[in-house]
Amino acid sequence: MAVLGVAGFALEVPDIDAGVAFYSAAGLVPACSGDQALLSCPGAPQPCVTLLSRGAQMRLHHVTLRADALDEIAKLVQLHGGAAVDAPAGWDAAGLWVRDPHGVLFHLIEGEAAAVEPVNERFVINAPGEIVRVRRSAMAPMASYAPARPRKLGHVALFTPDVMASVAFLTDAFGMGLADRAQDIVAFCCARQNSDHHVIALAKSPGTGLHHASFQVADPDEVGRAGQALANAAGRGHWGFGRHTIGSNFFHYIQDPWGSWFEYYADMDFIDDHALWEPTVYGMEDAMANWGPPVPADFVHNYQAESAQ
Ligand SMILES: [Fe+2]
Repeated sequence: MAVLGVAGFALEVPDIDAGVAFYSAAGLVPACSGDQALLSCPGAPQPCVTLLSRGAQMRLHHVTLRADALDEIAKLVQLHGGAAVDAPAGWDAAGLWVRDPHGVLFHLIEGEAAAVEPVNERFVINAPGEIVRVRRSAMAPMASYAPARPRKLGHVALFTPDVMASVAFLTDAFGMGLADRAQDIVAFCCARQNSDHHVIALAKSPGTGLHHASFQVADPDEVGRAGQALANAAGRGHWGFGRHTIGSNFFHYIQDPWGSWFEYYADMDFIDDHALWEPTVYGMEDAMANWGPPVPADFVHNYQAESAQ
């Protein structure tokens, strides 16, 4: 019985049109009705982002996770400080709704992940002593590239007042694995089988909230190109192009209209069997990036917690 991956998240936002414009510019496909917008990765059968027009501030409503053996998880949730709860009004009662010990709402649903569209052309580089590309250019003129095409929602990063307590809940109640962490400030949890290095990341903060949602693109070039385009379109902060130490992914983060972050990533570590993975406790010098531009001053600012005060 375990969580298998992340399927989506829902945000309450003050301006749904701004949200639809932002995520559309990021490459997601919107479907709007009334006071709700659903956004999907191109070609995906299910939406992964739900925006709810509600309130004056952005607030994380819930995170949707794919899982199996929901009855078993329901028992473990009670044992480890969480609670199985009724579906919020208007939401699908199927599956299992859970509040974690900090009050964060999760919706666990059964089902396999949708197949991820494979890349057409493998990303290769000419390296010292290994030439794999001859008599042709790696890069094409800027105008020839299609807009960003996010392949899947890979992970969400959540603020929590107690990182290690949240890790304990995700591992003991949700059957996830601790991949790596940096002190007790940030931690990364994966599914136990065939998982990206992390599907839920945790960052220490006075309150709960969404730090970022991360979408996989084809390769490092698309991370850089899409990140630059979305940063220009969004007009707020951004951080990238860079590469994380923990998880190894190339990244570019772009700030959404409410101060949280959208990440494009490529080439993340993959854990086929968590029992054969050795989690590392990193120092804080490795918590953010192996290399990249300076970190924006408000990169770990919790705007949701601020608005709750
Ligand atoms: Fe991330």
